[in-house]
Amino acid sequence: MHMERIRIVGNPNLQLKGKVKISGAKNAVLPAITASLLTKEKVRLKNIPLVKDVFTILTVMKELGANYSKRKNTLSIQAKKINSAEASYELISAMRASILVLGPLLARYGKAIVALPGGCAIGSRPIDLHIHGLEKLGATISLEHGYIKAEAKKLHGAEIEFEKKSVGGTENLIMAASLAQGETVLKNCSLEPEVLDLCELLVKMGAKIDGIGQETIRIKGVKELGGATHDIIPDRIEAGTFLVAGALTRGNIVLTNSRPHHLDTIIEKLRYSGAKIEQLNNNSLRVIGSEDIKSQDVTTSPYPGFPTDMQAQFTILMTQASGTSIITETIFDRRFTHINELLRLGANIEVSGDKATVRGKTPLSGAEIIASDLRASASLILAGLIASGETIVNKVEHLDRGYEKLEGKLKSLGAHIERIKE
Ligand code: EPZ
Repeated sequence: MHMERIRIVGNPNLQLKGKVKISGAKNAVLPAITASLLTKEKVRLKNIPLVKDVFTILTVMKELGANYSKRKNTLSIQAKKINSAEASYELISAMRASILVLGPLLARYGKAIVALPGGCAIGSRPIDLHIHGLEKLGATISLEHGYIKAEAKKLHGAEIEFEKKSVGGTENLIMAASLAQGETVLKNCSLEPEVLDLCELLVKMGAKIDGIGQETIRIKGVKELGGATHDIIPDRIEAGTFLVAGALTRGNIVLTNSRPHHLDTIIEKLRYSGAKIEQLNNNSLRVIGSEDIKSQDVTTSPYPGFPTDMQAQFTILMTQASGTSIITETIFDRRFTHINELLRLGANIEVSGDKATVRGKTPLSGAEIIASDLRASASLILAGLIASGETIVNKVEHLDRGYEKLEGKLKSLGAHIERIKE
């Protein structure tokens, strides 16, 4: 795999202008793909993003026995029969979301051997909430040699309360409960739009789910589920990234194929910082950046709070705001890896514990930097756009995991950006 890098010729006076189509949500399509393990029939998913994580999860699905075909942004996938219960380490370590095969495999096949996901760039990411919940549904789970070995003759309903909100935990347990015997009540569920989108798909497949979009969800297990066709929701984090890009460059950008109502908190923060954001219709909105960017504090929290996946992007914006902003990251214990790279670009940021204190307005100057986590790499690119001089972003494979053609979209808005293969 050759090292791919992105080269940006920054311009502090850049103004991004034009229209950009938002891709389908990575964090909605991944559970939708693993949900296809729950039925023998075909599941068709439209508006899928063509990003690396999708190809990784499809490799895992193939390993388990599913077949699929892809035409542009439409995927047809069918797990007629499961011929292996094992998701291998190298695939899981490539992407933690592979853990989302655990619930469906147990429900459909009664057995699952899934590598424990390694730590990753954004802190240790345990799966205790997934394990405890599945044990309550009747699974026997042991951890051996870095693998989770789970078995269940037949899952049965239970009452489970998440001690903290977990997107993947909620998704795994809803999928497992949809084929369990009896009723399951899940409390303190995550409310992210991607969780709701998964529930919509499962209901189309015949699942009996009450309370979609609430913190308490009731699932009545059914004997079997059928196929379905489903449109994946647009990626609210990609949309948020482009809204920040517009605010950062005094730009004027129209976002199409997006869902403004998934962006409320992001829009509220950006409006407060001075950007003008208007909803054009249910699927598009316009952002107009302001001359002066107002500093403000932000604390990440589970949906509908300010998303942790937007923390890095917002930090960049605050480096250009006049004044001091305190960014508090409450979801992951080490999600400030991008800050060291920002310091190399001349930002004035101090980290202590879960808080980053950003002092602006600081002009940035281009440098060679290294991407770490997926969302952070997008924010480093935003920084490069407005830095004076050249910025080279290394390890852009992180970016490719979750953004479809990001540099192409930015180039079409006027950025001087290209990918260099060597
Ligand atoms: C999902 O990760 C997203 N990934 C993440 O997006 C997102 O940042 C995260 O939710 C929070 O919104 C996908 O949907 C594929 P969690 P997930 O379980 O499900 C702790 C991206 O770049 N926790 O909600 O793994 C955990 O350590 C990614 O698109 C436990 O303690 O997140 C974290 O501190 C990055 N025990 C917090 O809960 C568990 O069993 C939230 O994690 C599970 C999680």
